[in-house]
Amino acid sequence: MTPGPPRITTVAQDALACRADALVLPVTEGGRLLPEPARAVDTALAGGMTTAIRRSAFRGKLSERLLLHPMGRLAVEQLLLVGLGKASEITPDRVRLVTAEALRHLRAIRARTVAIAVHDAIWGPLGSETVAQAISEGALLGLYRFDLYRGKQNRDRSPEIESLALHCPDRGAARAMRHGIVVGGVLAKATNLARDLINEPANILTPAELAARAKRVARRYGLSARVLDRGAMRRLGMRALLGVAQGSANPPQLIILRHRGTDDPGKPALVLVGKGVTFDAGGISIKASEGMETMKGDMGGAAAVIGAMAGIAALRVPLHVAAVIPAVENMPSGTAQRPGDIVRAMDGTTIEVINTDAEGRLILADAFCYAGRLGAKRLVDVATLTGGVVVALGSIRTGFFSNDRALAERVLAAGEAAGEKLWELPLDDEYEELLKSDCADLKNTGGGKKAPAIGAARFLKHFVGDTSWVHLDIQGTSLQEQEHGYQPKGATGVMTRTLIHLALNLAQNASGGTRNRSW
Ligand code: BES
Ligand code: ZN
Ligand code: ZN
Repeated sequence: MTPGPPRITTVAQDALACRADALVLPVTEGGRLLPEPARAVDTALAGGMTTAIRRSAFRGKLSERLLLHPMGRLAVEQLLLVGLGKASEITPDRVRLVTAEALRHLRAIRARTVAIAVHDAIWGPLGSETVAQAISEGALLGLYRFDLYRGKQNRDRSPEIESLALHCPDRGAARAMRHGIVVGGVLAKATNLARDLINEPANILTPAELAARAKRVARRYGLSARVLDRGAMRRLGMRALLGVAQGSANPPQLIILRHRGTDDPGKPALVLVGKGVTFDAGGISIKASEGMETMKGDMGGAAAVIGAMAGIAALRVPLHVAAVIPAVENMPSGTAQRPGDIVRAMDGTTIEVINTDAEGRLILADAFCYAGRLGAKRLVDVATLTGGVVVALGSIRTGFFSNDRALAERVLAAGEAAGEKLWELPLDDEYEELLKSDCADLKNTGGGKKAPAIGAARFLKHFVGDTSWVHLDIQGTSLQEQEHGYQPKGATGVMTRTLIHLALNLAQNASGGTRNRSW
């Protein structure tokens, strides 16, 4: 979560006065009269802007752009008009999207210093702080690049945007924006930290390296960290997790992070669990080779949880939050577990392993048992768990399951605040049929093509006990094949921001709603 470029500031001055390589001017659709500051800009350009708009197809529709050259009439080299869509339909997510697209465009044409007009009149119902937060999030999320392993000659060579100044003539509004910029910055950098972890190849990011990075994050943000090795896990009886790990030369790790945001020495109000399979070859039930390289991302849940813990600590959220991350590699080898093996989870449940590629639920089973020991009131897990969720929801919505209405509503609200779409799927008892084994308490797969995402969630449910629980299946949303808005191609870091919003929401509630800051 390094404070990467650009540096984002507010300037209590009219956008007309700005000096920068480029000025971004957001415009809503269908307004016949240009509101300020567009009108003033147009006057400075001797009507050049209205003429250019008239001659172009630009109407202010969402994502439309029009690049103008002020030719010395403004103190900027480029003027970029960006469409926000209809004023009545502006949401924080649209602001994130438009900002990301505008800044990527400007970076591609080598702008280094950018200003954006944020006058109140532009944003319809959104307040200044909300707008600033969305701009800050959109900018940092949209400009993310991962080119650690590219030689200079192979890099996207456009230089970074160094600064982004939010111009607003109203001093009070400019002051309110500062808080939004900080919060948006934390949310985006936490997500970019998750993206970095996911984009790392599996030869570098082994379970031990994931643990080392989690520890580094912990040191930096003041979290406490503990890592259990194979011996410690053996003593705890985590045979479901160890069975998955036994085929790999890279030993498993159980990573535990804690953020004690209050003086209360009690149990965590929330435990986050993230699936950390650093590479999923499928084990003996080996996967087809096509697309197998994407299985380096099978720790997307772990990444989201580590990112969220960093964000929660950075924002000093007044809540006790713990994270449990089972980290393993799922490989075929002479020591690998076989289909038909029976393993015993930490709570004594026996599991017949039908398919070694359904390994996520096996490691999560033991992680849930461990989380239960921490005595958490609420458990939220994030996992790249099933292909079934991709069939159901594609790469747009994350699959969502819960055993508790109140927690479900909170997580749905957190997803809404983050602009991360969720869709609830059922957990009816009748689906239990999918998990009945002839020789053990449970089997790890069954039912073939019948409701595989639900089968996996029902399996997990066995290990949550009475805890309020939400399961987030991110197999479809963790990686994107194409860049869209503020999501670059590759790792999205999805659910990092939702988890941070959830912690903020729970903390606000725990304090009796007295902290009514909007996030
Ligand atoms: N990490 C995968 C999820 C996945 C599914 C990745 C499909 C790529 C394509 C998970 O561990 C897995 O392999 N799930 C299997 C389970 C099946 C063997 C019961 C799935 O969903 O296909
Ligand atoms: Zn698998
Ligand atoms: Zn997997």
